[in-house]
Amino acid sequence: MTDEEYYNFIQPYEDAKEVLLARLHVLKHNLYEDSAGVPIHNIQSRIKKKKSMEDKLRKKEKEPTVMNAKDYLQDIAGVRVICYFVDDIYNLVDALKRQADLIMVRESDYVKTPKSNGYRSYHVIVGIPVYCLDGMEYFPVEIQFRTMSMDFWASMEHRILYKKGRRSGREELAEELKEYADMLVEIEGRFELHSEGKQVQDV
Ligand code: GTP
Ligand code: MG
Repeated sequence: MTDEEYYNFIQPYEDAKEVLLARLHVLKHNLYEDSAGVPIHNIQSRIKKKKSMEDKLRKKEKEPTVMNAKDYLQDIAGVRVICYFVDDIYNLVDALKRQADLIMVRESDYVKTPKSNGYRSYHVIVGIPVYCLDGMEYFPVEIQFRTMSMDFWASMEHRILYKKGRRSGREELAEELKEYADMLVEIEGRFELHSEGKQVQDV
């Protein structure tokens, strides 16, 4: 794909991402009573770069065209929501599900069922309505909901292992990282014991 094709192609994904970010900011301040604190620590977002889009398509054995990107990639727009507690994750997902104009395309609950390496996060792909001159179309945005401790582990694991062809001592390291994941679940549970009861508001 040319640079020009790429920039035209990602525009509605950028718009979809902005719509979702606005919804999340509203939820950040309205999900709980003021006294309970906010559910979101911080939010990161990105649009997939041209090169990673092409690399991912080639990995899927597809021609690196914008047509194929539209058909085969659901994480062109990505948002990562870093929460305080596991409950915040489920409350936010429920609140988004109650927004009738959004559609849930896919959900993977790696919080309830972590990956075997210890990775935890709640992934959803939401279809966001984007309106233009000829009408409305849904564009997918991948959201990863995590607590700070899940994000700490995933960021370190990504840096050290994931997608990296480290040769020697890889298995031992993976085992060590799995132990840290378990320790973090334990620590997170202890923080949870000290959290105030949160009252979800009707939003
Ligand atoms: P991808 O082809 O990587 O998008 O996988 P998928 O479409 O099967 O989706 P999945 O929900 O498994 O993972 C999507 C994204 O979650 C990845 O691009 C990473 O950002 C993150 N992720 C998934 N598994 C891991 C993991 O084991 N470690 C880390 N650090 N991140 C992960
Ligand atoms: Mg992905």
